Amino acid sequence: MRPLSFTPLAWVSITTALTETPFLGFPSPWISPSPSDDPAWQIAHDQAVEFVSRLTLTEKVNLTTGTGWEADRCIGKTGSVPRLGFEGFCLMDGPLGVRYVDKASAFPAGMNAAATFSKRLIRARGESMGHEFRGKGIDVQLGPVAGALGRTPQGGRNWEGFSPDPYLTGVAIAETIKGIQSRGVIACAKHYVLNEQEHFRGSVDVRIDDRTMHELYLWPFADAVRAGVGSVMCSYNKVNGTYACENEWVQNYLLKNELGFRGFVMSDWGAQHSTLGSALSGLDMAMPGDIMGPPTSPQPPYGSHWGGALTQAVLKGEVPQWRLDDMVTRIMTSYFRVHTGEYTSRPEPNFSAWTQNTTGPLYKASNRTWTTINLHEDVQSNHSLLIREVAAKSTVLLKNNGILPLSHPSSLAVIGNDAQDPPGGPNACPERACITGTVAMGYGSGTADFPYLISPATALFHRSQEHNVTFFNTTSNWDLSHAQSIAASAQVAIVFAAATSGENFVSIDGNAGDRNNLTLWDNGDALIKAVAAVNNNTIVVLHTSGPVIIDYAEQHPNVSAILWAGFPGQESGNGLVDVLFGDVYPQGRSPFTWGKSLESYGVELMTTAADPRNPRQKFDEGVFVDYRWFLTPGKGRVDSATYHFGHGLGYTSFEYSSLTISKHDDWEGYEPTTGTTDPAPVLGEVVDSEEEEVVERHTFPEGFDSWRIPRYVYPWINTTIYNSSENGTAKSPSIGDFPPEARDGAAQELLPAGGRKEGGNERLYEVLYTITVNIKNTGKVEGVEVVQLYLSLGGPSNPSILLRGFEDVTVSPNETKPVTFNLTRRDLSNWNTQAQNWEISDHEKAVFVGPSSVDLRLNQTLPTLYTA
Ligand code: NOJ
Repeated sequence: MRPLSFTPLAWVSITTALTETPFLGFPSPWISPSPSDDPAWQIAHDQAVEFVSRLTLTEKVNLTTGTGWEADRCIGKTGSVPRLGFEGFCLMDGPLGVRYVDKASAFPAGMNAAATFSKRLIRARGESMGHEFRGKGIDVQLGPVAGALGRTPQGGRNWEGFSPDPYLTGVAIAETIKGIQSRGVIACAKHYVLNEQEHFRGSVDVRIDDRTMHELYLWPFADAVRAGVGSVMCSYNKVNGTYACENEWVQNYLLKNELGFRGFVMSDWGAQHSTLGSALSGLDMAMPGDIMGPPTSPQPPYGSHWGGALTQAVLKGEVPQWRLDDMVTRIMTSYFRVHTGEYTSRPEPNFSAWTQNTTGPLYKASNRTWTTINLHEDVQSNHSLLIREVAAKSTVLLKNNGILPLSHPSSLAVIGNDAQDPPGGPNACPERACITGTVAMGYGSGTADFPYLISPATALFHRSQEHNVTFFNTTSNWDLSHAQSIAASAQVAIVFAAATSGENFVSIDGNAGDRNNLTLWDNGDALIKAVAAVNNNTIVVLHTSGPVIIDYAEQHPNVSAILWAGFPGQESGNGLVDVLFGDVYPQGRSPFTWGKSLESYGVELMTTAADPRNPRQKFDEGVFVDYRWFLTPGKGRVDSATYHFGHGLGYTSFEYSSLTISKHDDWEGYEPTTGTTDPAPVLGEVVDSEEEEVVERHTFPEGFDSWRIPRYVYPWINTTIYNSSENGTAKSPSIGDFPPEARDGAAQELLPAGGRKEGGNERLYEVLYTITVNIKNTGKVEGVEVVQLYLSLGGPSNPSILLRGFEDVTVSPNETKPVTFNLTRRDLSNWNTQAQNWEISDHEKAVFVGPSSVDLRLNQTLPTLYTA
């Protein structure tokens, strides 16, 4: 057994990592399931080992490397194993539905799923998405998202994920993964890790301390691993000096060793930078496989960091064969893991990501092999019902002076561009990068094509017709006098406004992915003020990618209600109407804090860099983001937010009582994990490059030029390159830059917080306290209360409270229901950098239960644990 490597690399600068985390992570650990694990993993692992043992070197490489950008029909596609009839993997965006295809659904965004605070709905959304990906013949869904977590409210891709609170995101990502994978599709937890903003995303060097990493950004990924996620996508940014996809601390040490992840890591598209750096630090699949980036940048000889370059590196012994075998075993383990039960068959992709025409090229980049490429398979099933339910139940009632639920007014005015059917149809703007018409998702790769989009104006029109309500509608956000005259003529005026964000490859009005500010777009704030000036039954509806500054509307006496509908997907208008008229109880709760100013958040989006070639960003605020900042004295200010995390009103009232805590005595105490991983095996044929015949066998096959597809990545080597001193990748680190143990497949030490169980040390998940409260509905209608449990860890370095439980419970008038929460060891712990382990401090701890982070009705100190 070999101890962990402490040797810093010559070619990376890891100053912060070295002070805070003196561990590097070589070699890549071989994590096979422990005998007591979920037997499904054991079976899948054994199947994978058997499968990989039958592969040749180039067949293995083929499964690790994408065939190139737009080379095949999916957004990402690996090479195949034709000899065994095994098609390459088809990978498709994104986190809210199948991107770029027809006859599939556009689900509510991740942040909306989180806003329901309903594990049932989050799971069901995952299941339905999984069903649709499978129906299209897709192997891997490129979602869900936990990075961006949401460090700054301007973060362009926050809406793809769930919430800046890692606990809520952790629960949501786990439920989503279980849902997706239960339908025979591999989920992909992305973007790992610290991909918190779009500005400089491909180059920013995020400096982070070990504790913040564990308590905030790594936390939901631990839940993803524990939920059995099959793949993880490493992100574009650097972490403490090294690109995430080349970072042995991030991949080998944290994800694979500490968290016990045994699926595969794929690169974000173009986030891989070298052959050896990525292979030795734990990357398992290169996407899209070829080299993206400016043609002026040095192009590696194989057109790929892997493909032929990886074959060459293995033959030369620079990447040990066990590491390649580990990559493919991980990929195939995830494959077999989801292909169980009724999902053992594997449908072929029946679409092309690059055209919705029926015929098109199979190989888009080379425009080759025209065929029937789209079968237009309808995979929507009855998902519109769930989409409508999630849209309604994620709508957060931020303010209500009693006007809601509406009992059909005599007249209704709908005001604003954001209420309207998008002219040209809901998909008129490429990548959804505009706000022409109602906004129901953000922009970039996290989108899907709408099969249809029910706008609020359409839904409200139909509702008005059914109930003889006089209906007015005005679309312009800029003709304020017209908006006022319409508003003044109606009993109730509903004014709509939006703010969107997305991925930085598209920019709207100077917003390059991230939002430039927290105001409403398209004159939205002026429109709200103009309408409120003339109608004292003004209702504001917001479709935004996160918080906006809305205090003026909260304060305005004529604004009778404010609803945040987020990005609700294709059933937008119907979901909203259900809540407005009280058909569905508003159970949405805000998954983030609504600051009164950008500055109130205490974090900054980095838009300029002292050295633009090496932009560096320190996450100095540590664990204090969102409510952890606002609610901690000495950090943010409670009164600098309009609405707090967890806030959301309903249509009835609840009484909280009888908080009881039962303690599960921890007689055994917490044992750090000891022991070792298995040594990494070499599977199948052992390649020996000393033999000329072996090298020869891996060169381009005879006649290759007659059938080669241009711009396609192949696994074979070119002897001219092989025999030169070139190592395969331009400007890459070479073998001398790595400590010898980076290539050593011997068993290695498990980490104290780690183990063979997914999610790390199994005892972190032991329940130490059970808490119950009673919830009584004291109002007149049935309602859903989202009961939230917060924990104070005590001590000077912790946020005042942390979310550690939530349950949505339906209660009839006068009925009382008990709600139960379990607190695990992990919930109660802080990360100790020196010990590299979780630790429960001696500080007094207390629980708080209530309907929001600032309405904590009950609290009690936790009785001290008895420990051995
Ligand atoms: C880059 C994005 O960051 C990622 O989320 C997406 O899956 C890939 N592009 C593929 O489109």
